[in-house]
Amino acid sequence: MNSIVIGAYWGDEGKGKIVDLLAADSDWVVRFNGGDNAGHTIVANGTQVILHILPAGVIQSKNVAIGPDVFFNPKTFFADYDAVVKAGFRISGKILLDERAHLIMPYHVALDAGGAASGKLGTTKRGIGPAAKDKASRTEDITIYDLISGNFKDKVKAVVAAKAFELEKCGVIKGGSEKEISAYAAGIHAECSKYAEKIMPYVGSCAYVLNEALAMGETMLLEGAQGSLLDIVHGTRPYVTSSNCTAGGAAANLGVDLRKFKVVAIAKAYPTRVGEGEFPTELGSYEDAKKEKKGERLTAAEKKKAVDGDLQLLGKWIRQDGSEFGATNGVDEWVITKIDVLSGKPFKAAVAYEKDGRKTTRFPFQLKGWKPVYGKKEYFWQQMTEKEKSAAVENGYDALPQGMKDYIRDMVAATQIPVSIVSIGPERGMTIIKDVLKRTKAYLQ
Ligand code: IMP
Repeated sequence: MNSIVIGAYWGDEGKGKIVDLLAADSDWVVRFNGGDNAGHTIVANGTQVILHILPAGVIQSKNVAIGPDVFFNPKTFFADYDAVVKAGFRISGKILLDERAHLIMPYHVALDAGGAASGKLGTTKRGIGPAAKDKASRTEDITIYDLISGNFKDKVKAVVAAKAFELEKCGVIKGGSEKEISAYAAGIHAECSKYAEKIMPYVGSCAYVLNEALAMGETMLLEGAQGSLLDIVHGTRPYVTSSNCTAGGAAANLGVDLRKFKVVAIAKAYPTRVGEGEFPTELGSYEDAKKEKKGERLTAAEKKKAVDGDLQLLGKWIRQDGSEFGATNGVDEWVITKIDVLSGKPFKAAVAYEKDGRKTTRFPFQLKGWKPVYGKKEYFWQQMTEKEKSAAVENGYDALPQGMKDYIRDMVAATQIPVSIVSIGPERGMTIIKDVLKRTKAYLQ
C-alpha cells in the first residue's frame, strides 16, 4: 500500500520514527515539501541519526527522492549523507533529486537570519522564506537544473545583481559597488558549484520516475516535513512555512495520483509548537520554555505540584520528558506518537475554542484571543514499566493502560478517524501495532 505521512499539528510530531517504521514496506520514500528546516530523528540499532533533508528511508537502503517543491540546500544534503554513513548505515538504494527543486543559496540563509520574518515569525533561519519568495518571483530563482547546467555562473551573477539592494539592506554586502557585487557573486558561485558534479548522478524528474515506479507496482511512502498547521494555505498564517504540508499538496507537487495513496496523519499525544504564533492550549509560556535547558529535570516536589494542577510545571514536565526542543485534509488513519510522555501526568483535553462569548469546535483561522475550552474528563495513567511496555508490544492494544485507551477512544470519537499505530518510546521496537486499527475502528461503531 502507498501512503502519505503528514504531521497533524505544527511539526515535531515524531514523524521520523514512524516513517522509518513504515518505510520497511515501501520501495520508495519521497520528501515532498519543506527543506532542511525539518529535523527527523531516527533511532535505529541503538544509533540516533537526525536527518534534515535526506528522506528517512535512506537508512534502510530504500530508494529515496526529493521532490520539486522541496527547497534544497546541497550543503545540508551532503551533511545528512555523511551522517548516515558515519552512523554505520549503508546507502544502497537509488537517490533521486528533482531537477525542478529550488536551491537554497547562501544569501537566502543570510536574508532569513537578518530579515524581519525571522524575528516576527520565528523561522528556522534556513533560508526557506527567501528561497520561496524567489521561486514565486520566477526571475530570481535558481533550481537544481540551473546548478548542473552550463549557465549557472551567469545565472548567479544576474540574480545577485538583481538582489543587490536587498542584500545590501540586510548587510550581506556593504557599499554595493559593481565590483563588490561581482566579487560576492563569484564567491557564491565558487561555494555552490563544487556541489554540481557531486549531485549530477542523482538528478532527474520525480513526475516521470515515480509514476513509472507506481505503474510497475512499486510501493511508495511520501514523507511530509513540518505539519498541517504550518501549511502555507491551510495553516496558522502568517506563522507558517512556505510550502504545502497537507496530503493534497503532496500529490499535486510530486505529480502523482492522490487516489493511489492512503493518508496517515501523525498526531503526537499532545501538540507542541516552536517558533512564534498563537498556541491556545500552551502550558506556561514560550519565553520561559526558550530559557529551559536540555537535561533539566523537575524535582519530586515540583512534580507533585504539577499533578495537583500547576499547569506551568505540567508543561515543563511534558517538555522535559518529551525532549521537546525541536530538532531544528483528509486523513484515513492516525498514528499517535509519544503518548508515553504523558504517563503519570493528569491532563484534560481541549474540545473547543472560546472568544467574546462565542464558542466553536472549528479551528479558527486567526487564533489570537481564542481560549481553549477543556472537556470535563481528566485523563491519567501510571508510568508503564519496561516489562509492561514489552508486554504491550507483544500482546497489542488491549495491554495498554486503561487511561491511555480512554484518551485514544475519545480522540477517535471526536475525529471519527481510527488509529493504526501507537508509539510508546523512541526506539523502533517500542511501537504498538497489533489490534490497534481493529480496536479503534470498533470505537466508531
Ligand atoms: P521556516 O519554515 O523556517 O520559514 O519557519 C516558519 C515556521 O515554521 C516557524 O514557526 C518554524 O518554527 C516552523 N517550522 C519550520 N519547520 C519546522 C519543523 O520541522 N518542525 C516544527 N516547526 C517548524
